[in-house]
Amino acid sequence: MEDTSNFVVISNRLPVSRDEEEGRWETSPGGLVSALVPILREREGVWIGWTGVPDFAPPPFTHDDMRLHPVPLSQQEMEAYYLGFCNNTLWPLYHNAIRTPQYHRRWWHPYRETNERFAEAAGRVLAPSGVAWVHDYQLQLVPRYLREWRPDATIGFFLHIPFPPVELFAYLPWRESVLEGLLGADVLAFQTRQSVSNFRNAALQYSAARPDGDDLKYEGRRVRLQWAPISIDAENFESTARSRAVADRAARLREQFPPVRRILLGVDRLDYTKGIDHRLRAIHTFHSRHPKEAAETVLLQLAVPSREELIQYAEQRDRVERLVGQINGEFGRPGYTPVVYMYRQLEFEELVAAYSVADVMLVTPLCDGMNLVAKEYVASRVSDDGLLVLSEFAGAASELKEAVLINPLNLDQLAEALRRAVQTPPEEAATRMQALRATVQRYDVYRWSRKCIEALEN
Ligand code: ADP
Ligand code: G6P
Repeated sequence: MEDTSNFVVISNRLPVSRDEEEGRWETSPGGLVSALVPILREREGVWIGWTGVPDFAPPPFTHDDMRLHPVPLSQQEMEAYYLGFCNNTLWPLYHNAIRTPQYHRRWWHPYRETNERFAEAAGRVLAPSGVAWVHDYQLQLVPRYLREWRPDATIGFFLHIPFPPVELFAYLPWRESVLEGLLGADVLAFQTRQSVSNFRNAALQYSAARPDGDDLKYEGRRVRLQWAPISIDAENFESTARSRAVADRAARLREQFPPVRRILLGVDRLDYTKGIDHRLRAIHTFHSRHPKEAAETVLLQLAVPSREELIQYAEQRDRVERLVGQINGEFGRPGYTPVVYMYRQLEFEELVAAYSVADVMLVTPLCDGMNLVAKEYVASRVSDDGLLVLSEFAGAASELKEAVLINPLNLDQLAEALRRAVQTPPEEAATRMQALRATVQRYDVYRWSRKCIEALEN
């Protein structure tokens, strides 16, 4: 009999990764982990997930006060479940089909089986009447499997990515099963009000769920629908940005650039949803149309490698790198490189130093559940300066209203926003940034996790 716990978190990846060279585990960076660590510690909670490495699932262990239970995935399962159904079917479909989703029965079956395995692992460790909190699109069937096995449990689910409009969701050949999977939860939470409404419409159309006020009734139970936009550990970004170490790094970073007036910054996982290519094309337009103003800027583009095994990601990387080469070839000269591009994961202090030196932050996704980078930039601007240019298609846009909101597909508008951004008077930038900072400080990830857990415990 395993040790049980009243509080279990289930996500595809565990919040740690294995550093094989050092032979030790490292806690993954990010607000979700920072928010959950104190909650797990307080409740002696357990986190269930995959190590990120196929055929590698050591017995349960404790790291950074977190009790971790690895779930095994074979190489074949990783290919069919993770690369296939999760990232070649669901990811593009849920991001408004900006790449064509692939539908294969040979991916769907492993998705079901692995979801069942995650649910079983949770069911074994969850104490009677405990709370299970399931995360993201990889595990949409877990609420139902877990409920079948453990009807005493209280089950929450949080979707980190958008839930698509019903017209798109309808294409999914297994739409009924996915809805039944999700409806196994007591509380279903989403990043935006739009996603709540999209899910509600899909459930009313393609499942036996019926309206119950703003919520749903399903199999005699109430299923609560919640809007809960995720956030960041704002205080951590703020105090790091104020630290001596980051001030030194930021000063060194600025010295590396030619003496331009303005540094523009992009920070993204290299994903086709992030609109890095549109951003670069707008930079090209900016240099073509306004050579004098553009030559006073440099774009620092930081891209973290992601899902490199998938062709769409390899193609996107090629596209981005070709555009960087093209802009630098056409508009660069000795001593001046218009785009400085780095394809790697940065350390936390390096990242905050980059936010600190950036006069303009460019966040231009075509579709994004939230976009934490936008909030991280705001939290790091401790002098109330800097301008955030933000896509209206990021979940963050509904909260960060004082950003310069753009449609990234409108390259002329984006190029014009760039020209204006670099000329914005400091007073206007400060007014906008103060309002943005107040929002990000107030609605931090701790408030988000409290809101989600209160809904589960009441
Ligand atoms: P997504 O969850 O789709 O990747 P978000 O913007 O919500 O998008 O979160 C991305 C996270 O990855 C942020 O916390 C950001 O700080 C981090 N990140 C992105 N690019 C880099 C990079 N080059 N180095 C380190 N961290 C990065
Ligand atoms: C997004 C998803 C997460 C996922 C992360 C990294 O943020 O919402 O569920 O973990 O991307 O992607 P990966 O495929 O490397 O886990």
